[in-house]
Amino acid sequence: MREKLASRPLMILTSALPGEAASLCEHRVRLRVFKARGRRTEEEVLHCLSRADGAVTLLTDPVTASVLSRCPHLKVVSNVAVGTDNIDLEAAARLGITVTHTPDVLTEATADLAWALILGVARRVSEGDRMVRAGRFKGWSLALLLGMDLRGKTLGIVGMGRIGQAVARRAPAFGMRVAYTQRHRLPDSVEASLNARFAALDDLIGAADVLTLHSPLKTETRHLLGAERLAAMKPGALLINTGRGPLVDEEALVARLQSGHLGGAGLDVYEREPLLAPGLRRLPNVLLLPHLGSAARETREAMARMAVADCLAVLEGHPPEHAVAVGKGQ
Ligand code: DGY
Repeated sequence: MREKLASRPLMILTSALPGEAASLCEHRVRLRVFKARGRRTEEEVLHCLSRADGAVTLLTDPVTASVLSRCPHLKVVSNVAVGTDNIDLEAAARLGITVTHTPDVLTEATADLAWALILGVARRVSEGDRMVRAGRFKGWSLALLLGMDLRGKTLGIVGMGRIGQAVARRAPAFGMRVAYTQRHRLPDSVEASLNARFAALDDLIGAADVLTLHSPLKTETRHLLGAERLAAMKPGALLINTGRGPLVDEEALVARLQSGHLGGAGLDVYEREPLLAPGLRRLPNVLLLPHLGSAARETREAMARMAVADCLAVLEGHPPEHAVAVGKGQ
């Protein structure tokens, strides 16, 4: 029995997972679960992964080329996130390591959260909440915390993948027009079903009353919204980011908000997460969330199950369903 156990592949979880996902592993692998640590260093990730055949990782685990190259048995890394910018995909492919992610199951939850930010910033929800809690609400008044009507305004979506499209599908409920940009234009039929018009990035930036970011983080999308593009946004426009923090030059954003050029921002992600750019937290017209995009119980449980199932598939010699990089033998 002991011998049989030792011959099973070693699968590690860099953190305990929500729900029943880990129970999928019973009698199939040797399982080791590390304590959640927040953002780990490369050496800490290496410590978790060094003897593993398969690993289920979080977006806060830097799975770099240097880490991957020092894990001689590793066949698969399954990230519990749709984004894989914490993993060096090129190195994984070069080393024959499969990488999987968790698309689809978090699309609706993340789109909901983007709308929570859009509505929250447009209607100054967190400012109102702070006022009431601080005992500064002295009664109804005609000009109290006036926000922006969304009806009739243009929602600019940068990155019209699954989540961008789910955000677009909610727009008619709030009377917003949708324009979008991404590298490849959507087929006419999809544009028509979403009632969305394509625009070049710089045209979109100048036209949007609310600009919401849903592009993956890659070398070419880092600081997609740098100082110049932020300056080109419509005066009074709102910026929403539920994608990845480094898509935006956060210090330049703070400057645009401080100057009053932009009307507000709703951020779920940060350039140097969990740190904030100087001055950001003191701005009244920003709604700041701690990376909650997919943080709904059912969604997180589904993400965990998907990651574990894909990791097990590879360890048992089957193709995983949600691969972003495919290793040897897949
Ligand atoms: C993802 O899956 O990439 C999200 O950021 C997690 O919430």
